Amino acid sequence: MNSDSFFDSFSMHTEVKLKLYNEYLQKYLRILLNADYINTIHIYDLFCGKGETDGGQVGSALISVKQAISSACIYTKSKRIIVHLSDKNKAFCEELKFRLASIAIPANIEVSVQCKGFKDEVGNIISRHDHEKNSKVLFFIDPYGYKDTPPKTLLDLKQNPNTEIMLFLPVSFIYRFIDSPKSNPTLYKWKTFMSITGRPKDLLKIVDLITKRFSLAGFYSGSFILNNQQNSNKYAIFFVSSNVYGLEKFNETKWAIDPIDGSQMCRNFTGEVIPSIAEEWRLASLDKLSNSIKEHISAKPNKMIDNIELYDVVIRQGFLPRHFNEVWKKKPFLKREFLTSKTRSNYIGYDYTKRDPLVKFWLQ
Ligand SMILES: C[S@@+](CC[C@H](N)C(=O)[O-])C[C@H]1O[C@@H](n2cnc3c(N)ncnc32)[C@H](O)[C@@H]1O
Repeated sequence: MNSDSFFDSFSMHTEVKLKLYNEYLQKYLRILLNADYINTIHIYDLFCGKGETDGGQVGSALISVKQAISSACIYTKSKRIIVHLSDKNKAFCEELKFRLASIAIPANIEVSVQCKGFKDEVGNIISRHDHEKNSKVLFFIDPYGYKDTPPKTLLDLKQNPNTEIMLFLPVSFIYRFIDSPKSNPTLYKWKTFMSITGRPKDLLKIVDLITKRFSLAGFYSGSFILNNQQNSNKYAIFFVSSNVYGLEKFNETKWAIDPIDGSQMCRNFTGEVIPSIAEEWRLASLDKLSNSIKEHISAKPNKMIDNIELYDVVIRQGFLPRHFNEVWKKKPFLKREFLTSKTRSNYIGYDYTKRDPLVKFWLQ
């Protein structure tokens, strides 16, 4: 795909990608605008495009700016939001500047547009935020392919724990060319990152491996699969954070788009799924959650975890506390002991149980 046809009209998977970005950004800003220890929030849209398609569909650059404005208007605490937009296409940057000129920007928000390639800009960004303590930084990285964004660069951006990354990758292209002799150097780097020598049997394994590798690198990571309806190509959004609450918000956003198993766009956007099948998929996904919890506990020397660790496991598996509550209600598959006299909650779904060790769980 080239940049010209991309901005004719966004396809469905692009719309869903942007919906996920917009909804996550809204949650992210609302939490940070309320957090006492933060005074500046940076949003970097590093492959920002020109703001709109020819037919007026809103792209990530305008989403970033508009979401910053609407969130800042709700929370009046004086914090700065800086939106950094960059794209290597000069004509796109000019068009974007023209569109931005008609938007009234409040005093506590700054918007900059730079005509720069990702590679040339990334070093500056890393050093700019190296020593900042009271700021948070979100990177939205939405290239056409995978060549411009090698994993090492993404890990470098994540060196600062105050940063979060949302990265869009064309998984089908990675899968298709992974064994090709014409593979380019970045593809080789992705292959090394995934620790694979050949092509996995299943394309979705690529999504799994990339997510797991970010997690092994010490981060909270998640993913969401997008399908191009016209040509069946698959894409994925990867999320990388240093913070379990960040991943919880990403998971909430995914589950709002795919209420069946929080993993991909296809269900609600390709027509109705027969309700009994949808319910079967949902239950299978909850089974997966209870099995992962059991596996996690079995691997522990004392075969026991508290509610904080349980919350961590649930979030890392791409689920939410309410999913654990649901499987637990159906079948209490773990033994439990309260470490508090306040036994009104059996579960991890209440806010306070994420922070204080109040319950111990072990295998039946
Ligand atoms: C998929 S489009 C991004 C769309 C945009 N996020 C939106 O929602 O409107 C990819 C963009 O990356 C730009 N681009 C391509 N290679 C780039 C690079 N190396 N550095 C920065 N921008 C690049 C293209 O000009 C194009 O606008």
